[in-house]
Amino acid sequence: MDKNFYITTPIYYPSAKPHMGHAYSSIIADFFARFKRIDGFNVHFLTGTDEHGLKIQRAAEKSNIDTLKFCDEISQTFRDLSKILNLTNTDFIRTTEKRHKESVQYLWKELEKSGDIYLSKYSGWYSVSDEAFYNKDEIEEKNGVKFSIISKSQVEWMDEESFFFKLSKWEKPLLKFYEDNPNFIQPENRRNEVISFVKGGLKDLSISRKSFSWGIKVPNSDNHVIYVWLDALTNYISALNYPNLDDGLFKKFWPASIHLIGKDILRFHAVYWPAFLLAAKIELPKTVYGHGWILSGDEKMSKSKGNILDPLEIVNEYGLDPLRYYLIKEVSFGNDGNISQERLEDCINSDLANNYGNLCQRTVSFAIKNCDQKIPQKINFNDEDIKVLDEYTKNIDYIRSKIDEHNINHYIDFIVTALFTANKYFNDQEPWNKKDDQLRLNTIVYTTLEIIRKISFLLYPVIPETSLKALKIFDIVEKEINFSSISNHEFLKKGSKINSVGILFRKINKKND
Ligand code: MSP
Repeated sequence: MDKNFYITTPIYYPSAKPHMGHAYSSIIADFFARFKRIDGFNVHFLTGTDEHGLKIQRAAEKSNIDTLKFCDEISQTFRDLSKILNLTNTDFIRTTEKRHKESVQYLWKELEKSGDIYLSKYSGWYSVSDEAFYNKDEIEEKNGVKFSIISKSQVEWMDEESFFFKLSKWEKPLLKFYEDNPNFIQPENRRNEVISFVKGGLKDLSISRKSFSWGIKVPNSDNHVIYVWLDALTNYISALNYPNLDDGLFKKFWPASIHLIGKDILRFHAVYWPAFLLAAKIELPKTVYGHGWILSGDEKMSKSKGNILDPLEIVNEYGLDPLRYYLIKEVSFGNDGNISQERLEDCINSDLANNYGNLCQRTVSFAIKNCDQKIPQKINFNDEDIKVLDEYTKNIDYIRSKIDEHNINHYIDFIVTALFTANKYFNDQEPWNKKDDQLRLNTIVYTTLEIIRKISFLLYPVIPETSLKALKIFDIVEKEINFSSISNHEFLKKGSKINSVGILFRKINKKND
């Protein structure tokens, strides 16, 4: 079985500071990376910044800073954000790095060798904000200004000599690939959108620009720079040192298990990228998942719309794990979602503080008082204990399949139900009324502690910091977290000391309470 897992986020434009949409892509990717790691996979998790093109050049000019220096500064804020969001990325790539530039130029030569590149002239509409070309029928005019109907961003006329990629040649092979690999584009509705777009006919793609210089030079034609999307997409393999196969990184991790992206950049990932790879005879990634947007009001957040929600502000006010929990649970994965402070506070108060935090605290304090501060040694499970514990054993394949189907919401629903069941079990068993039956009392405590251990393992990909804090009860450290052990009912070391646990989540006094 393939035990390697390679997950990528989009590489972010360092044209402005990170916002909640960026944080969302990264947190979801981290969730998958962490789950796969505790399920025994070697995980490579890549993120980074996309630094070339006119959009960045203009942003730097506007700030009156040297372009590379401008990129250095903002790229660093994305690197810092990775730390703040507690991401476990194993690499961070910048497209201005040498390793990346060499890789892109190599890929260009491969495309040239396969006869997929020719020189011509591009005349048409271009959006600098999206770094994308639009057809006439994708443009609308408002007050004399032209916009893309799709992204609503402004377009400008472009008229220059350009190298082209023979995208049209790959129309049929792409459609065949989509048909043979139904999981390639997810979720399903986006797959259908892409298929109908390709069926509508693919035109050759302009892949170089002559009118500015902030980019990677076209080999042997250095008055052209390579189109920023061809440059950027290559990051997924340049980070594996393509075409150098010596260090084994490419062999081990390519094809990527999943490119996680926002729905707005699906066309680039599900049409252009696989076409480039087919032309260069490189295997195609297994899945491209286009998630929805985090909306601010009813609109996608963006700098140009001035409705940016700052992830740092939320983290400062509520803490990171509540934000991670909220984004993973409350946004229906694949669809758009709103950040609502009200719902975030509800999540903290009910799921995190009441259901999880409280369960840990009261079980541990009870065990400290009534079981000599030790994990009970003598136990004897009855049918009711086995029934709650077996829920985990029975569902191990179900949970794994939810991850493989990218059904994050069902994963979290399982945890929410498990927390409810755990609290109910402890209440119904009334260990406080069993003080004259130490064996029964011990068994109830052991069972509940086992459940806390299992739930904390399941919560590790979602709220890693708090899960680790809770696992300190048992002196369990990060590298001991192992998903398949949730089916073991006697994982906890009997007789070992129980550590008390502080408050895991503080309840929020809601303004309207
Ligand atoms: N640089 C390109 C990606 C190149 S990948 C080879 C890019 N950068 S971006 O910074 O504009 O956006 C990066 C990602 O953030 C995209 O997946 C985009 O969908 C996502 N988001 C940007 N705003 C978003 C929201 N408001 N909500 C959720 N994600 C959104 O595109």
